[in-house]
Amino acid sequence: MNNRERGKEAPSDPVSGNPTPEAPAANRPVGALSTGMPGLRRGLSRRTWLRLGIYGLPALAVADSLWLEPRWLAVRRLRLGPGEPACRLAFFTDLHHKGDRTYLERVVRRLNALRPDLVCFGGDLVEEAEHLEEALEGLREIQAPLYGVPGNHDYWSGADFAQIERAFEATGGAWLLDRTVRLRSVPVEVLGYTCRRPGCLQPGPGVARVALIHYPAWFPNLGPQRFDAILAGHSHGGQVRLPFVGALIKPFGVGEYELGLYATPVGPLYVGAGIGWFYLPVRFRCRPEITLIELALSREVAHTADAQRPHG
Ligand SMILES: [Fe+2]
Repeated sequence: MNNRERGKEAPSDPVSGNPTPEAPAANRPVGALSTGMPGLRRGLSRRTWLRLGIYGLPALAVADSLWLEPRWLAVRRLRLGPGEPACRLAFFTDLHHKGDRTYLERVVRRLNALRPDLVCFGGDLVEEAEHLEEALEGLREIQAPLYGVPGNHDYWSGADFAQIERAFEATGGAWLLDRTVRLRSVPVEVLGYTCRRPGCLQPGPGVARVALIHYPAWFPNLGPQRFDAILAGHSHGGQVRLPFVGALIKPFGVGEYELGLYATPVGPLYVGAGIGWFYLPVRFRCRPEITLIELALSREVAHTADAQRPHG
């Protein structure tokens, strides 16, 4: 027997030297057949996963940003100030109503479900005046006083500010063009700035101060006073937020204040993601949002409010 033939010998037991019975060919594990699920191993190969990553994930991201996120309303909760919250404030901004009445009604339903003491709006009701009446018709259904300031699109659209004012007043609130309103139900003062006249409003004493502005980077125009909350919009959060990058596009007047809560020398600044969209109906990692802010009163404000409350 030569070496070649020896290589074909049947395998033998290393202890006894007896030949080991060979497994029948049908029972031998052969490739994918061993799983009982033909093609499974080959289907989950590294190359397939790579293809899924290259083609599947971007497709999911596009589907999410076009069809899911633009109307996937989120409610974000925030607590500002020390101590027990004394006021529930719902904030929304950048409605950009373009005729989607169903979405508008959903926004108003979510606002009402939060049962806020007041609702604040940060500007940009519409881009075209033809949609104003429908937008206001929806906002009149808000069951809390609605306060708001204009955004750049409200000016550019030529929207009738007197009409907006009447609609906001119908809720018990006000359209605040460099105006201050002191609420009766809670010790809160709402100051609405157009940011065209820096330092034009003087907050009063003994109340929590809420400033409304449209452009977040313009908070230095508020003056030297401190506020309990400064609420702004305009950025839309960038609408498309890339991992490790943040907002893909930031319009003027945003600066570094693109989304969320920031500490500033004049108080906490909150920049909302907005409700609608501008330019393209796209949102990615930046859902439209309503923000529910639970505002705690400072000791001084709480003491003043308590002193002014009727006793006996
Ligand atoms: Fe906007």
